[in-house]
Amino acid sequence: MNNVTPMVGISAACRAIEAEIVCAANTDAKVLITGESGVGKEVVAKLIHHRSRRARSPLVTINCAGIPDTLLASELFGHVRGSFTDAYRDKEGWLEQANGGTIFMDEIGEMSTQMQSLLLRFLENGEIQRVGSERRTTSVDVRVITATNRRLLERVATGEFREDLFYRLNVIPVELPPLRERKEDIPLLVQHFLDKFRAADTSAGQSRPALTVAQDAIRHLMAYSWPGNVRQLENAIERAVAINAGRPQIDVADLPVEIQQAEPALPSTVSLPEGGLDLDAFIAHIERELIERSLERTGGNKGRAAKLLNLKRTTLVEKLKRLGKQSIM
Ligand SMILES: Nc1ncnc2c1ncn2[C@@H]1O[C@H](COP(=O)(O)OP(=O)(O)OP(=O)(O)O)[C@@H](O)[C@H]1O
Ligand SMILES: [Mg+2]
Repeated sequence: MNNVTPMVGISAACRAIEAEIVCAANTDAKVLITGESGVGKEVVAKLIHHRSRRARSPLVTINCAGIPDTLLASELFGHVRGSFTDAYRDKEGWLEQANGGTIFMDEIGEMSTQMQSLLLRFLENGEIQRVGSERRTTSVDVRVITATNRRLLERVATGEFREDLFYRLNVIPVELPPLRERKEDIPLLVQHFLDKFRAADTSAGQSRPALTVAQDAIRHLMAYSWPGNVRQLENAIERAVAINAGRPQIDVADLPVEIQQAEPALPSTVSLPEGGLDLDAFIAHIERELIERSLERTGGNKGRAAKLLNLKRTTLVEKLKRLGKQSIM
């Protein structure tokens, strides 16, 4: 289990998924994992396999998207020599290779209706027949885990996915929420990826001191919406480590530009003190803070700071004068 990625995260959603993984690992029931691209569907599939009684047997992973039907059938079920032009010898399929273990079928929503029928038949009796073989069927003992980033029920509604197959696969559903709905996982994931890339560097013979992440950079990472989910976060950290050039800390400038542009949210509520407040002074105070932050972030570049605040550069300069700040930069 050494190189199996753990489910990193502290959100309630992550904890619930951990519990579902434990539960699924204790049975042979089929699991259907859903969630957007990059949310960790493969991580979950691997954890279920490696924590199950099948851990010492193979986990065979296949991607159902983009494989033409004929090839997918022969890869899954195997083929006999001469069954098609390139079939020079008998070949065992993925389901036989996974015997005693688990098959993880990714992007199941992309399977053609013809393949769906073949799969359904296998699920009903656990028997496979190699392509081109007239009679011989073999029984295999394979646990089936599937995943999709599509809304399968919508495909069922449009007739593109067989309803009977859907219910057969969806015995234990595991739904992974997008990263933007569990942002509290971000700091831990960032640390996990920093450790991972450092360990990779160390084993490549380049040891570097541990890196930390500047608070401001964390704020941007938390503000961003992560359409590519955890995979995108991992790539951003890998890139930041690569371009950081030996400084002890990852700064906002080390992050991809779209993340630099993500605006950290202001506190969502401002409480009114018991004795009231001086509204003009309060607003002036907030204005001063935001102007200072925008200048900090842009290294004092007034043009870019003005852009961040959606102001004309001349307006920002006037405000700076008013704040007695013309000397800052
Ligand atoms: N909770 C997590 N803890 C640690 N690493 C994670 C976690 N979730 C995802 N990752 C990492 O993020 C990357 C993407 O995860 P994974 O491949 O499992 O996503 P996926 O949902 O299968 O994506 P796709 O739909 O594109 O196939 C992987 O490198 C994985 O190790
Ligand atoms: Mg995947």
